[in-house]
Amino acid sequence: MAQRNSTRASGQTEKTSVTCATRPLMADIIAQRISRRQALGGIAASSILSLTTTKPAFGQARSSLNFTEIAHGYDTDFHVPEEHKPQILIRWGDPLFPDAPAFDPLRQTASAQSRQFGYNNDFVAFLPLPHPTGRADHGLLCVNHEFTNANLMFPDIGNDQDRAMLSAEQVNTEMAAHGHSIVEVRQRGGNWETVLDSPFNRRITALETEMNMTGPAAGHARLKTAADPEGRKVIGTLNNCAGGVTPWGTVLIAEENFHAYFAGDPDKTAQAENHKKYGMRGKPRFQWGRFHERFDLEKTPNEPNRFGWIVEVDPYNPRHIPQKHTALGRFKHEGATTAIAPDGRVVVYSGDDERFEYLYRFISDGRYDSEKRSQNMRLLQSGTLSVARFNEDGSLQWLPLVWGEGPLTPENGFASQADILIETRRAADLLGATPMDRPEDVETNPVSGSVFLMLTNNTRRQADATHPANPRARNRHGHILELIPPGGAGRGADHAAATYQWEILLMAGNPDETADGARYHAGISPHGWLSNPDNCAFDHRGRLWIATDGAPKSGFADGLWACDVEGPGRALTRHFLRTPRGAELCGPCFTPDDRSLFVAVQHPGAEAGSDFHNPSTRWPDFSPEMPPRPAIVAVTAGGQPIGNPHIG
Ligand code: FEO
Ligand code: CA
Ligand code: CA
Repeated sequence: MAQRNSTRASGQTEKTSVTCATRPLMADIIAQRISRRQALGGIAASSILSLTTTKPAFGQARSSLNFTEIAHGYDTDFHVPEEHKPQILIRWGDPLFPDAPAFDPLRQTASAQSRQFGYNNDFVAFLPLPHPTGRADHGLLCVNHEFTNANLMFPDIGNDQDRAMLSAEQVNTEMAAHGHSIVEVRQRGGNWETVLDSPFNRRITALETEMNMTGPAAGHARLKTAADPEGRKVIGTLNNCAGGVTPWGTVLIAEENFHAYFAGDPDKTAQAENHKKYGMRGKPRFQWGRFHERFDLEKTPNEPNRFGWIVEVDPYNPRHIPQKHTALGRFKHEGATTAIAPDGRVVVYSGDDERFEYLYRFISDGRYDSEKRSQNMRLLQSGTLSVARFNEDGSLQWLPLVWGEGPLTPENGFASQADILIETRRAADLLGATPMDRPEDVETNPVSGSVFLMLTNNTRRQADATHPANPRARNRHGHILELIPPGGAGRGADHAAATYQWEILLMAGNPDETADGARYHAGISPHGWLSNPDNCAFDHRGRLWIATDGAPKSGFADGLWACDVEGPGRALTRHFLRTPRGAELCGPCFTPDDRSLFVAVQHPGAEAGSDFHNPSTRWPDFSPEMPPRPAIVAVTAGGQPIGNPHIG
């Protein structure tokens, strides 16, 4: 565990910011891109005292958040500040229906898993019931299940190499544990509970849920397979990472690392470059291709083209057929965050989470009309996809990916817009987009209208390839950018503008380690620093809540940190929550009144030497009969706003 025991001089945070001493021009540019608001807000002014307590002290006078900060740590349990109460709401294997089988970890089946909460919960959305004017204590919880950890899931699988021993039933159980869960939840007597006999409850899986393709690539020859000669229907969704909620009350589910599911040698297909561009190498992590030909790209070379999309689901209609929207492009979508432009067009931001990949923005052709829900549900079928270029002067340009424009022509292998959408990465390369340090979640500040981008890390960035928006070589800790559309605050922000401004909110890492090049508000406590920002959320007062995936490499558990992004507490991150060992934290999601926070604890116990029989934690059951279970935790604060339990 990293601890600070010495007094630090005023202004040290400023001095540790420059990552590339051999490039003073770069340093100057970075300094300019650290917000002027930040400098005025205290980075240069605060002095840091040594500290051994975690009671409210450091920087609290400057932060709008007044919870008692927790300490960095690493143990088997889940921790929140003392004024807050965590409650396990639903775990992997818990029934979603009255007739669902009870969870039996020693006798798992695909049919049982299809009626139970899936594995590795990631994105979480809360949609109030009834729609659209529901309450904050009753709604639908919509949860992604990103992937499975076979050696923590099954008793006879010891490590990743043992995946080759998975039976057909186990593979099908994995497929049924992927996807999405929709479950009705309500709060009674201060506690949250699931409603098992709800007509809304639903499992969406990689095994058997039928989906439609929409948009310019739907029906294209490269989407057709023997099982789907029309190229318009796909079974399943997978590696569902983060997501988003639309203004019309549907959920957007991102398909991220789809390459990990496809066996077969891409060089034996006619689309070798396409498949290799997305990471397919013939050695997939998952063994589904042994039992399902569609996950063997030598046998079904178009099947990978049917994954890597944004999927829209209507949780208020349990018979809704999920829609894979090709207009939003095909890449390793981390998530999908929606905004409305001043003229009513719908904007969706999405990062491609891989080293040196890009940030994208989709703008619908049609306009949102709050009175016309069924019409709104077609808005993501047509529009313009763009990719971001960050300029050194602090401006950002959105470069449209439009067939026939610039290099996006038949001479470069693009016969139509469908080709551009199927091979989005290659098209974006040709436009000169800015390679980023793994774009993860994107969220829009509901108060300021600014857009915040999490960049989790990129240890492969070389010193001669740094850029002001990705300024660190071997970026181990990640950073957060603020993208500022023109047009003013909140709903005045023009999310359809061709040019934005950008600034650095913070550079993650240890502010006491000069080599880290970390940048935060100077009032940060010894526990306020973080590493590897991944998911994030804004509360309704516009404070940013940052979830991490990778902090254990720095000696403490992943968790949640919160900060103001405006005013004197800007970038003053404070540690709010930490996960049990081996886990990452996903899906922070607030109820509309900010009185409840749902978080997803993903892959607890996933670390070297830990398996089903001897896991490093048995959270949340702590029963010798039960392996660790990914679970959703509901956090409350005695009826007070999360993060502000102390009134006044
Ligand atoms: Fe699934 Fe990019 O985290
Ligand atoms: Ca993520
Ligand atoms: Ca992650």
